[in-house]
Amino acid sequence: MVNRSPIPVVDMPLKIVVLLSGEGTLLQSFINRQQSGLPIEIVAVISNRPNVGGLARAQKAEIPAHEIDHKLFPDRPTFEAALIKLIDFYKPDLIVLAGFMRILGEQFVDHYQGKLINIHPALLPKYKGLDTHRRAIEAGDTEHGSSVHLVTSELDGGPVIAQIKLPILPGDTAETLTERTKQKEHLLYPEVLRWIAEKRLVLATGTPCCDGAPLKSPVILEPDSEG
Ligand code: GRF
Repeated sequence: MVNRSPIPVVDMPLKIVVLLSGEGTLLQSFINRQQSGLPIEIVAVISNRPNVGGLARAQKAEIPAHEIDHKLFPDRPTFEAALIKLIDFYKPDLIVLAGFMRILGEQFVDHYQGKLINIHPALLPKYKGLDTHRRAIEAGDTEHGSSVHLVTSELDGGPVIAQIKLPILPGDTAETLTERTKQKEHLLYPEVLRWIAEKRLVLATGTPCCDGAPLKSPVILEPDSEG
């Protein structure tokens, strides 16, 4: 667990660009936590899908909201070049993937080495890829969760920074487990942003360092360490 005292002073909020493709409940958790003092500034929200809920949430919170529809580009490099150009305009400290359903190529990932994080709804290294909740239930797992990790060019394969766990209950379906996992993610992801804003978690070298030492295993967010 991350040592929580003394409380560090944050002189500048962490400037983040959020990339998403859907509903944006994770984005909403950032907005809510920012309003209650999380030292972040969401400088822009970008979606690769038009008219999604996440863009509406950004607009409601008066955050610049952009859509870059990947379908309008001839190939991945051209799409990613446009994405990079827009992101770099905002000069963020960190790029936060929050339900961004598009694989990012090497060109993009290399450009943001040590500045690009994702959340994946599984206890990595288990269940990379899609359909994680159903796969965990079908495998008879008793525990599930979500992981925040640095993004590398291997899908869901970068160093895991932090995880939160929850039990799989008898009678859970993929839908109920998805919903309960999302509730946990809304605690975990803002908390990781706080650690980065407070510079207790440093990602710049590509090896996550926490409280001055390389992270040997993911930080597990315990229920009593939220907030
Ligand atoms: C989250 O469950 C996240 O783990 C996954 O996509 C979902 C995004 O949900 N990568 P929302 O769009 O923020 O509601």
